[in-house]
Amino acid sequence: MKRIIVGNWKMNMDLKQTATLITRLRTQITNPTAKVVVCPSFVSLVQASEIISSQKALLELGAQNINDNDEGAFTGEVSGPMLKGLVGYVIVGHSERRIVFMESNELIARKVAACIRNKLTPILCVGENTNERQEGLAKRTVLDQLEQNLSEIIPSEASKLIIAYEPVWAIGTGVNAEPYDVEEMALAIYHYLVNKYGTETADKIPLLYGGSTNGDNAASYLAINKIGGLLVGGASLNYKVFSSICQL
Ligand code: 13P
Repeated sequence: MKRIIVGNWKMNMDLKQTATLITRLRTQITNPTAKVVVCPSFVSLVQASEIISSQKALLELGAQNINDNDEGAFTGEVSGPMLKGLVGYVIVGHSERRIVFMESNELIARKVAACIRNKLTPILCVGENTNERQEGLAKRTVLDQLEQNLSEIIPSEASKLIIAYEPVWAIGTGVNAEPYDVEEMALAIYHYLVNKYGTETADKIPLLYGGSTNGDNAASYLAINKIGGLLVGGASLNYKVFSSICQL
């Protein structure tokens, strides 16, 4: 399976900065070893898509959020049908949405279903917080999130998922998870998926790692058994660093 490197730009980059960053990535990423996905803000997606096609950039697009409904009176929200054709991927269940926007596991399950219904690949993020890790509850937390977040999809849809393990305590903190801890979690997630969907399907679901990844540590995470790519936050805003990660 080809590696996947995803850049989550979060709430950064206005239109002009988006155009500059995409153009720079286009010139740097000429020989990617991975499928490369960037996730700008909603308002920049149309422009980003136009630049990617006109410059034939080796980039794909993702959104950072989706509403669980397809249409209706939901002021300020963006739906699957609006994203379909514009992006191929949607980040769902990011810890910032779980914590800052209080998204429940039930809502996240409906967002995963909205992605599948609209032929968008959900990048489902799961991860424990500091207390949960210190209390030895990391695996239980992550597997419980998966169980709840995957409750609205049927087994034949599972091969369309991407799962990202992002320990909350490693996001934007510069605190690096130890590769053996990441491997332990990746194996736990993989075995969970094997039990739930069977080996053939589990083998088709890419597992990404995210949390303070950068040009110095990316290779060590990519070398981990069962880790098939990265979900990069801050470092994805630096075109030199992000391009280098995509060409490791
Ligand atoms: P950082 O790489 O900035 O820690 O962010 C990770 C992340 O949240 C990606 O979704």
